[in-house]
Amino acid sequence: MPVTTIEWRGDHIRMIDQTRLPLELVHLEIRDVDTLAEAIKSLRVRGAPAIGIAGAFGVLVGLQDFAGKDKAAFLEQLDKVSDFLVSTRPTAVNLSWALKRMRNTAHDHASEPVSVLKQLLKEEALKIWQEDRETCREIGRHGATLIEDGFTILTHCNTGALATADYGTALGVVFTANESGKKVTVYADETRPLLQGARLNVWELMNEGIDVTLICDNTAAFVMQQKKIDCAIVGADRIAANGDTANKIGTYNVAVLAEKHSIPFYVAAPYSTIDFDIPDGSKIPIEVRSAEEVTNGFGRRTAPPETKVYSPAFDITPNELITAIITEAGVIQPPFAANLKKHVKQK
Ligand code: MRU
Repeated sequence: MPVTTIEWRGDHIRMIDQTRLPLELVHLEIRDVDTLAEAIKSLRVRGAPAIGIAGAFGVLVGLQDFAGKDKAAFLEQLDKVSDFLVSTRPTAVNLSWALKRMRNTAHDHASEPVSVLKQLLKEEALKIWQEDRETCREIGRHGATLIEDGFTILTHCNTGALATADYGTALGVVFTANESGKKVTVYADETRPLLQGARLNVWELMNEGIDVTLICDNTAAFVMQQKKIDCAIVGADRIAANGDTANKIGTYNVAVLAEKHSIPFYVAAPYSTIDFDIPDGSKIPIEVRSAEEVTNGFGRRTAPPETKVYSPAFDITPNELITAIITEAGVIQPPFAANLKKHVKQK
């Protein structure tokens, strides 16, 4: 069953409300920027590439009712919408990357009339969406070369079609290996506190008919010790210039465990996730989410009222724990500081 996570419908955004999965497949029709901002903040749309696309489409929503020919006012509104959307989630660089592309598209053609700028912005947003679809297939193709027939793969969070325009990054690798006839099995971390692994990764894997076993996050060490895992593949929200990687909280745990058990630990992400302006992971902004998501997740209180909580949404995996980074251009080996740049130049 193909999953269309997010798309532009001529005058509005249509997206799956991921907070309703796996119980219901419900779509949202979004026509204004405030509703979109709420959808991004509350993870109705989530996953680094998908929120980048949401941001690009958000610019269209935020500017389509702009009337008149005042170009300065149009560009001012574009900047306002972009600044507002970029503030919704700080860690995934794909959001600011996509919004920067939208901004540059308009500012680079500032001599054109408003009607032309609107058209150029629409083309750029659709290009970002289409490129992501193609990029994910390429990531899958390169990553699948690392997967042997019979492999069991550990996943963390959701990195499939729901997190991208289509197909996914880390999960795209699993899908490609499976489609090429290799037998692959997955152990999916449930991914506390919002259960993207249990609710979304398992849902996508089952839709593809791939053998998946759900584990609690704290079971990962034991399944590795039991020699059930051949490799771990995760996605990324931002990769610093030296390869340090921000991804869903708990990813660092998996990387440490993988090293302890001599299991390859791969990161799969598009180039748009690499932030060359950030030298190392310590400079990546980490979103901190509400206590409620931990103490009262999914409508049931599991800790005393007013419990003090610390809930970072992401952590940083140091580059030395990463076996390789899989991008649309190929499998990048350490040392990442040198090799990430080299690949970008070749691209
Ligand atoms: O908080 P989320 O659900 O947006 O976090 C998503 C992740 O951490 C993913 O692993 C990452 O964005 C890569 S998705 C291809």
